[in-house]
Amino acid sequence: MWRIIFVLLFTYAKCDDNYNERRRKLVELELRSALGGNITLNDKENTVNNCLMQHKFNEVDYGFDHPNEFNFSHHYFSYKNQIQKSKVFKIIKSMPKGAVLHIHDMAIMGADYLLNITYMEHLYVCFDKPVRFLFSNNVPNVTCGIQWQLMSEARSAVDNVTEFDAQLRKLFTLVCDNPDTVYPSIKETWTRFMQYFNSAYGLLTYRPNWEQYFYDALTYFKNDNIMYVEVRSILPNLYELDGTQYDTMVTAKAYRKIIKRFKKNHPDFIGAKLIYAPSRKVDRNVLAQYIENARRIKREMPEIFAGFDLVGQEDAGNPLIEFVPQLLEAKDLNFFFHAGETNWFGTLTDENLVDAVLLGTKRIGHGYALAKHPQLMQEVKDKDIGIEVNVLSNAILSLVRDVRNHPLSIFLSMDLPVVLSSDDPGAWGADPLSDDFYVAFVGVTSKLQDLKLLKTLALNSLKYSALEPENKTRALQEFDRQWNNFVDNFDCSSY
Ligand SMILES: *[C@@H]1O[C@H](CO)[C@@H](O)[C@H](O)[C@H]1NC(C)=O
Ligand SMILES: *[C@@H]1O[C@H](CO)[C@@H](O)[C@H](O)[C@H]1NC(C)=O
Ligand SMILES: *[C@@H]1O[C@H](CO)[C@@H](O)[C@H](O)[C@H]1NC(C)=O
Ligand SMILES: *[C@@H]1O[C@H](CO)[C@@H](O)[C@H](O)[C@H]1NC(C)=O
Ligand SMILES: *[C@@H]1O[C@H](CO)[C@@H](O)[C@H](O)[C@H]1NC(C)=O
Ligand SMILES: *[C@@H]1O[C@H](CO)[C@@H](O)[C@H](O)[C@H]1NC(C)=O
Ligand SMILES: [Zn+2]
Repeated sequence: MWRIIFVLLFTYAKCDDNYNERRRKLVELELRSALGGNITLNDKENTVNNCLMQHKFNEVDYGFDHPNEFNFSHHYFSYKNQIQKSKVFKIIKSMPKGAVLHIHDMAIMGADYLLNITYMEHLYVCFDKPVRFLFSNNVPNVTCGIQWQLMSEARSAVDNVTEFDAQLRKLFTLVCDNPDTVYPSIKETWTRFMQYFNSAYGLLTYRPNWEQYFYDALTYFKNDNIMYVEVRSILPNLYELDGTQYDTMVTAKAYRKIIKRFKKNHPDFIGAKLIYAPSRKVDRNVLAQYIENARRIKREMPEIFAGFDLVGQEDAGNPLIEFVPQLLEAKDLNFFFHAGETNWFGTLTDENLVDAVLLGTKRIGHGYALAKHPQLMQEVKDKDIGIEVNVLSNAILSLVRDVRNHPLSIFLSMDLPVVLSSDDPGAWGADPLSDDFYVAFVGVTSKLQDLKLLKTLALNSLKYSALEPENKTRALQEFDRQWNNFVDNFDCSSY
């Protein structure tokens, strides 16, 4: 009898040994083969990592035990003001994050910034739907369903300016108290999102404001520990108080001027480039004009021109297939197409991913739908096409509710070339990049993914940038310097 039990125990233990070993290997293999899983950290980085992971575990474990309180399964608006308290967030905030490669110029600064602009002189307002603004010497000769009035007069006519400004401020943000009722579907979200752009348009395209705004935006990036930006712009026509309207080239030149000025004042900032990204909701003739504009910018300002893209709600705009012959002729422009920002599997919108890849896009904007296309994922990996993932944008613009279900986790596990970005942080009051990094790190990635992942994501943002080789090398050196500085001065107790 005892002999039998002994044999059984022995056999079980032997088998168990094997099992545990195989199990350990599998778990380790998955972690190591994920993005950033196979780099090694030095001693100082390990110290940072221990601190970071202690706090990450605290947050994730708390959520696991209290799933009803887990912030990342709720709407961003319900927890956005609490983020600053998180120790993980504070560490991420002070960490060098490299570059922002997917951002739209008119949605960088937040509502308070735009509200401030409404206090400037010479501003007229039309309380139509949507509310519009225009700087002008005289009453604007532009259609308005009601009437143009001086903003200063409109404001002084109200009883309660605090209340008036609070209402006005709502024009400049999607944030609200009850997002689940206000935004039942992508349609309502995008309608509101477009109204945001309509209201911001006249405030920002007044030429002096445009220049100041972009300078302030670069400051804002720098303060979020970002060293380089590729900004998407429709290059709107700028205007002056006397009604003068400029063309696309003037807007591009304004970019060049401001980038130069900012770099002069901040030599450790690597710089910025432009992705010309006009609306996808146009016909072929207009697209031809856009391509012509892009060619001119590339010819006259090669140092700031990164490439070409088309923007606007993908489901509502034209699919890329509509423009394939024209785009094939324009491959020299470098494409950075938005593609796969949809939940409609198998539609023409979804197939934008196919066309983006076939057209030789250098990166994919969003690629949210990519996880449904294993063949394309393989192509993306083989061709090393960067995927610009914007988790908060996808959640706010109604593609995913609980960010734990965001396909980013799959892209990372498969070691696809991912960069994290923020799309339109100003429209929802997020930081230029830190909020997105934080929500992705705690809400989307494996509990076990650590500083190795964050460092690789930051490095990827430079690797997949449109910087010229020599500037990229310089950017990576500058990143190294900033990173070492961060690691050397890290003190866990100060978070
Ligand atoms: C990790 O890196 C080592 C050394 O560079 C290499 O031998 C190994 O195959 C890599 N493992 C994975 C999972 O990529
Ligand atoms: C979620 O946000 C609340 C405030 O809304 C905060 O007190 C709490 O610590 C957060 N929970 C987690 C798990 O981060
Ligand atoms: C708005 O203007 C006030 C007063 O000039 C200033 O203190 C504040 O920093 C400004 N806010 C933003 C977001 O620019
Ligand atoms: C207003 O614009 C219309 C059409 O652009 C033009 O015909 C008209 O002369 C303008 N009126 C003034 C007062 O400038
Ligand atoms: C003005 O409006 C604000 C915000 O709605 C409110 O808190 C305040 O009490 C109002 N002030 C007066 C004098 O009514
Ligand atoms: C890249 O380097 C070239 C010179 O090699 C320079 O003219 C250009 O401005 C640089 N671009 C950026 C974005 O720093
Ligand atoms: Zn975008």
